[in-house]
Amino acid sequence: MRSIVILTGAGISRESGLATFRDADGIWAQVRIEDVATPEAFRADPGRVQAFYNARRRALLDPAVGANPAHLALARLERDWPGDLLVVTQNVDDLHERAGSRHVLHMHGELLKARCTACGRIVPVAEDLTPELVCAGCDGAGTLRPHVVWFGEMPLHMPEIDRALARADLFVSIGTSGNVYPAAGFAAEARAAGARTIELNLEPSEGASLFDETRYGPAGTLVPAFVEDLLRV
Ligand code: APR
Repeated sequence: MRSIVILTGAGISRESGLATFRDADGIWAQVRIEDVATPEAFRADPGRVQAFYNARRRALLDPAVGANPAHLALARLERDWPGDLLVVTQNVDDLHERAGSRHVLHMHGELLKARCTACGRIVPVAEDLTPELVCAGCDGAGTLRPHVVWFGEMPLHMPEIDRALARADLFVSIGTSGNVYPAAGFAAEARAAGARTIELNLEPSEGASLFDETRYGPAGTLVPAFVEDLLRV
């Protein structure tokens, strides 16, 4: 098993204290997608959308939030695995990077980056995005939006992701409900290319039947054990 692609979702960050989306206590139980996570919502009420992401950015930067054993196990796997390893995450947090993972593609963008709607410049951001902020690239005021992919927008890095899936020997899906495409289609794509597919989740996802092997439980326990097994082979 030379080449591994790992897809992660909100479930891998749950034990770090970050909310998931579709659990009973999830984000979409508190606020509607169409009010805060679409380009139309941003045009209609930019202040409300900015406030939603400012609150999530502040929560991520809370000193109590850090990488958990699942993130750390994936960073260890990247260090010790003799073949290729790519983490494709739907998450906009930076917990994979804080754990030490280096090959991470954020297909839904990143909470700690902003993008200028005038000149397209992408900048790191660790504070609230407000209309007063000026883009360092074009001096535009109030032009910075979260560098997060909204519903109706194209996910990032898709050509690179598709190439990795086409050559994967193993595809592992961790902490995602399998509700949102194109990520929800990756297991079928990898399988069609001959990869072995494994699901690690708290409970069966929408696409559970697509996996050759499934293990259920909290990621913080499941992922370190899985990595141990993989490295022992
Ligand atoms: N360990 C492992 N899995 C967990 C844990 C945990 N501690 N807690 C919850 N889960 C599982 C849930 O059972 C669920 O299947 O994680 C999954 C989280 O699913 P969602 O909340 O739908 O999150 P995700 O799949 O990442 O959503 C995909 O949808 O709203 C958009 O852009 C957003 O990236 C997000 C995308």
